[in-house]
Amino acid sequence: MYDPAAISHLLRRSQPRRLGIPKRVEWFLFFKITNVDDFKKYLKELIPAITTSTDIAEIRNAINDHKNEGKQGLIRVSGINLAFSNRGIQTLGIDDDLTDPSFTSGQLARAQALGDQGQIIGDTFDVNWIPAFKGGDIDGLAGDCEASVVEAFNRVTNVLGNSFKEVLKVKGGVRPGKEKGHEHFGFLNGISQPAILSVTPPPFPGQAVVDPGIIIVGATGDPNLSSRPSWAVNGSFLVYRQLNQLVPEFSKFLVDNPIHEVGLPPAEGSELLGARFVGRWKSGAPVALAPTHDDPELAADKQRNNNFDFSEAADQTNCPFAAHIRKTNPRSDLSRFGPSATLLHSISRQSIPFGPEVTPEEYRENKTHCDRGLSFVCYQSVLANGFEFMQARANNIHFPVKQVVPGFDPIIGQNGNDTRTTQGSDPTAQSNSLSLPFEFVVSKGGEYFFSPSITALKTKFAA
Ligand code: HEM
Repeated sequence: MYDPAAISHLLRRSQPRRLGIPKRVEWFLFFKITNVDDFKKYLKELIPAITTSTDIAEIRNAINDHKNEGKQGLIRVSGINLAFSNRGIQTLGIDDDLTDPSFTSGQLARAQALGDQGQIIGDTFDVNWIPAFKGGDIDGLAGDCEASVVEAFNRVTNVLGNSFKEVLKVKGGVRPGKEKGHEHFGFLNGISQPAILSVTPPPFPGQAVVDPGIIIVGATGDPNLSSRPSWAVNGSFLVYRQLNQLVPEFSKFLVDNPIHEVGLPPAEGSELLGARFVGRWKSGAPVALAPTHDDPELAADKQRNNNFDFSEAADQTNCPFAAHIRKTNPRSDLSRFGPSATLLHSISRQSIPFGPEVTPEEYRENKTHCDRGLSFVCYQSVLANGFEFMQARANNIHFPVKQVVPGFDPIIGQNGNDTRTTQGSDPTAQSNSLSLPFEFVVSKGGEYFFSPSITALKTKFAA
């Protein structure tokens, strides 16, 4: 039976300000199962270490006590999450159909449709992903997070012993100092999340409220409720995407293309262009409510920072149709189609940056020298309704349907190897179409996983 308490381990970081433990570090371990019997046996030993809702409450209390007692430094907590690819589930001998065709085919097979860069050789598409994601041997993902990440990581590797092989490890971490919570382009991330009926606390003004089944398999509102195997209830599909960000190149592009608003110095014109690309200022203030200047007070006010729906100025005066947050959550732009036009496509995002800070040399040369970006993670009950639908909208120049063609989402819109244009980023320009010479965010791979409930791990996955 669907149990709201049982699934909060999936959501432990989905509402960082209210629900989960503050996440500073998360390591992603992609693994291949090499000995099925041993893996199932060892998994049984690992299950008690997987974070449950009770653990989260205890961790939160411990953090509060630590702060109230005026103690310095981090409290040592850890969280472990486990998820399996379709290949992994089959390897473990589970042959039920989870009734999600995208999951069954895997993310590699979906790369071309998602618009990732690559070459067509004969009748095959060779995507420009890192080899680990192209090898076709990822069975699972262990996410180890929090202050004692090394301890959690060692726990996983020690317990699972030689029943698995590491395919790839990605070390994510919150950015330092005042960039905490900001992704590498500098924008505060993780602000707008859907509230989940009877799972998360009451919504803030403007926050969408979705049926639990939009995120959680087998829960009320799951579009495929009747066809799910019983053990899949309370689980969720996890998307992992390795998204490299070309930060110096992005900054240079903004500097070269400032918005020439009357009285606005060029540096602020560049900040405004970036804000209009995202739909929010770096502080998190939405351009729908703060169209020409940043408003950090608005950004910090949870009663106001998500309380908009683009009807404040239904054209592009305040926010371009193609802005990242308008493409991925068009709010009242689709109100004529009823609430499900947006709510059905909600996801719970739990991403974290990876890679080092940009060096002065990279800024001097306007060139990225290493891998850095976003370990994009999101949960949903149907991949084609959630992540895949949003990525398709970001890539669809005609979405949302308006009197003008909006063009690509400048942040995540993908066009294979071809260039992109975006519309309305400069409301003052004569010609309102801006050519984007390259993608600022480049997909380097990923996989689709299923994150089972603890009960399913115990009864179906472990020996
Ligand atoms: C490196 C890649 C990405 C960057 C830098 C990025 C950045 C951001 C930022 C700064 C926000 C605004 C703050 C917030 O509400 O959390 C945001 C919101 C959002 N992003 Fe992304 N994002 C990226 C990838 C993606 C992808 C791949 C998707 C889905 C396909 C996505 C979906 C969303 C959604 C749904 C929102 C909330 C929209 C709203 O409800 O207002 N993002 N993103």
